[in-house]
Amino acid sequence: MAFVKPSSLPLHDLPMKKQHSLSLKLPQCTTALILLPLIFLGFIYLFLYPKEFYLQSLVTSCTGSTYTVANFTDPVVRKPDFRLLIGVLTRADWYERRHLLRMVYSLQMGNLTAHVDVKYVFCRLYKDDQRILVPLEILAHDDIIIMDCEENLNDGKTYSFFSSVASMFNGTNGDQKPYDYVMKADDDIFIRLQKLIDSLNPMPREDMYYGFVIPCDSMDPFREYMSGMGYILSWDLVEWIASSDVPKKNIKGAEDMMAGRWLNDGNKAKNRFNTKPAMYDFPIPVPIDTCSHEFIPDTIAVHRLKDNPKWAMTLKYFNFTSGLKPSRFYRID
Ligand SMILES: *[C@@H]1O[C@H](CO)[C@@H](O)[C@H](O)[C@H]1NC(C)=O
Ligand SMILES: *[C@@H]1O[C@H](CO)[C@@H](O)[C@H](O)[C@H]1NC(C)=O
Ligand SMILES: *[C@@H]1O[C@H](CO)[C@@H](O)[C@H](O)[C@H]1NC(C)=O
Ligand SMILES: *[C@@H]1O[C@H](CO)[C@@H](O)[C@H](O)[C@H]1NC(C)=O
Repeated sequence: MAFVKPSSLPLHDLPMKKQHSLSLKLPQCTTALILLPLIFLGFIYLFLYPKEFYLQSLVTSCTGSTYTVANFTDPVVRKPDFRLLIGVLTRADWYERRHLLRMVYSLQMGNLTAHVDVKYVFCRLYKDDQRILVPLEILAHDDIIIMDCEENLNDGKTYSFFSSVASMFNGTNGDQKPYDYVMKADDDIFIRLQKLIDSLNPMPREDMYYGFVIPCDSMDPFREYMSGMGYILSWDLVEWIASSDVPKKNIKGAEDMMAGRWLNDGNKAKNRFNTKPAMYDFPIPVPIDTCSHEFIPDTIAVHRLKDNPKWAMTLKYFNFTSGLKPSRFYRID
């Protein structure tokens, strides 16, 4: 029982209470006579089968406590399996999209088996209204990263992202690395967080490059690179990008292609994983390329959600709002 965290106390109250009531009915020496051999047997069992004991207490502590994310102020919750930072690269002016994304992510946060932080990332502000409205968001949500760069599409934003993250989060998790994985995501992708976590769980935590392999018809993650819709690097590779000379020589160019090139040139990312078919582009009525296909139940992420109707169709397919309770305050038909 020594391995069981306080969270599972209610489970262990039961046998304790039984023992107690037993000892009330029996004379003390009889209790001792019964209990002593039992304790002795217990010790022998522990000695002979320490592994099994450990496994059992793991099982009890898992089923007895809550899965959670973000709420690690409470020391009794289960330790997350790993830590993931999702950086959504977006533009300062896209307030409404961030509003949608925040709802979509925060509604998934309650019950995850890994620690997930989502941050919205863009370059320096360049308009007066931004200098008020973005601080407003930061005060309300504190989930924004402003990098020291000028807004651009193919001018080194990905490099800025990974190198900013490496230095900004350095040392923020005690002497542990801040995250196991960092994901670069677009602002037009819907990610099902627990599906992503389940798929990452068995992966190596180092030298890992994970995503949707480009070109569309390729299944070989070692050939080119992962689509910018959303790909993941292990923390050691994020640090490598920030510190190595290899990326510095190749900063400008089609962003996500460059990330693949850095890793290939640096002989990095020996562990690679292709997420097809679980990640894909939104199925516009006629799929325009083989990056797109119909919705499937085992989806990790759907990309190219450029407008609200596409978000709505996607959320509908995944029953995202089906938990809404009837109320006298609204009617949705
Ligand atoms: C975190 O957990 C504690 C204890 O279970 C709870 O009181 C608190 O409301 C939780 N906080 C959040 C943000 O869920
Ligand atoms: C929380 O997660 C556990 C295990 O993954 C699941 O059994 C349970 O139904 C979830 N609870 C909610 C409220 O989603
Ligand atoms: C992180 O901090 C340590 C100690 O201050 C420093 O040696 C290291 O270079 C830093 N790494 C990055 C990527 O900034
Ligand atoms: C959505 O709910 C319907 C009805 O309960 C179910 O048949 C379907 O499998 C669910 N879809 C997904 C993606 O879970």
